[in-house]
Amino acid sequence: MTDSFIERPVADPLPPGSGGIACAPSARTLWIGADGRVTTIDQTLLPFAYRTFTLDDEAACADAIRTMRVRGAPLIGAVGAYGLALALREAADDAALAGARERLLATRPTAVNLRWGLARVADRVRALPDAERAQAAWDEAARLCDDDVECNRRIGLHAIAWLAEPLARARAQRRPLRILTHCNAGPIATLAWGTALSAVFQLAEQGQPVHVWVDETRPRNQGASLTCWELAQAGIAHTLIADNAGGLLMMRGEVDAVIVGCDRVAANGDVANKVGTYLKALAARAHAVPFAVACPSSTIDHSTPSGRDIEIEYRSPREVTHVRGCDEGGRIVDLRIAPEGCDASNPAFDITPAALVDALVTEHGACRATVDAIAALNEGKGKFAERRIQG
Ligand code: MRU
Repeated sequence: MTDSFIERPVADPLPPGSGGIACAPSARTLWIGADGRVTTIDQTLLPFAYRTFTLDDEAACADAIRTMRVRGAPLIGAVGAYGLALALREAADDAALAGARERLLATRPTAVNLRWGLARVADRVRALPDAERAQAAWDEAARLCDDDVECNRRIGLHAIAWLAEPLARARAQRRPLRILTHCNAGPIATLAWGTALSAVFQLAEQGQPVHVWVDETRPRNQGASLTCWELAQAGIAHTLIADNAGGLLMMRGEVDAVIVGCDRVAANGDVANKVGTYLKALAARAHAVPFAVACPSSTIDHSTPSGRDIEIEYRSPREVTHVRGCDEGGRIVDLRIAPEGCDASNPAFDITPAALVDALVTEHGACRATVDAIAALNEGKGKFAERRIQG
């Protein structure tokens, strides 16, 4: 790999508050640059290159979500919100608002945060005169981002409380807490901190040794490329494993808890997350390893009755028949790993039934993945904002 490729160009800004690290857990992953433009990190180039790019109009936001230059449920919700705000700069009447919202929503179907982010901005501007809509939408998108940072920080604190027993055991045995995670639910999947990994980063900041087993997460390998990159930047011990290794590690007692993020929780507690999550939940239950799903309450879709009703995104079969990597010359290349013309199917997410989820950890605390607990979360809506104001 040539240095010229992996070197960060001077023009590429580091996230605000990053302290000189491209992925400090508390640093913003999407920010407004000095030039007033929405700026974020190109996740399709990581871990081989750190490049930022700007999102200058609705089409750029839609394209970034569709091509996964930005990804992770909370982050695509934020990019959708900014996409709508940028669209309203061009035209802000009701038809333009509805059209932009529809186009942005069509980019990826599974993560409900996208629909939620678009609704939050649209609801904010609907009653305003057209001339005031673009600025109000921009301000709302910025608030959504601020809220996500605080939300994820709180998710981490609640996850740490949920981990009390495994933590006590790890401390008694003078060894690190051993967490297994799937896909990437770290800072760059969100505005900062991450969801599943928020607890890991905050425990590390408290001086608690943590070791993370990172599923590679075929076919796009977000675990290998993104989670390992984030953990390395923060100096947190981690080991990359093949997706199918987790069962053996759990059987051997080498995993204290599994924590994953998610893209949508149905009203009955079923969880949609990156494909492969379901098999980890089955293995965790078989070996009595606690299994938690960490997400902001905006990921809970009270209008979708069960996991069966969640649309699963099917992506290109080429993601299965080929692997992407960096060659000796520093070029990012796709290599075919299946016979030419091989039939392949690529569901990007799966459904973990509520019965396999030991805890849903939101900014409000940890609860069981049951209809009643989820309905109670819905009724408590708004409490987060009150608590945040009170500090
Ligand atoms: O297809 P991706 O990379 O957008 O999928 C991401 C995940 O499945 C994450 O686990 C989920 O969005 C939670 S992000 C905090």
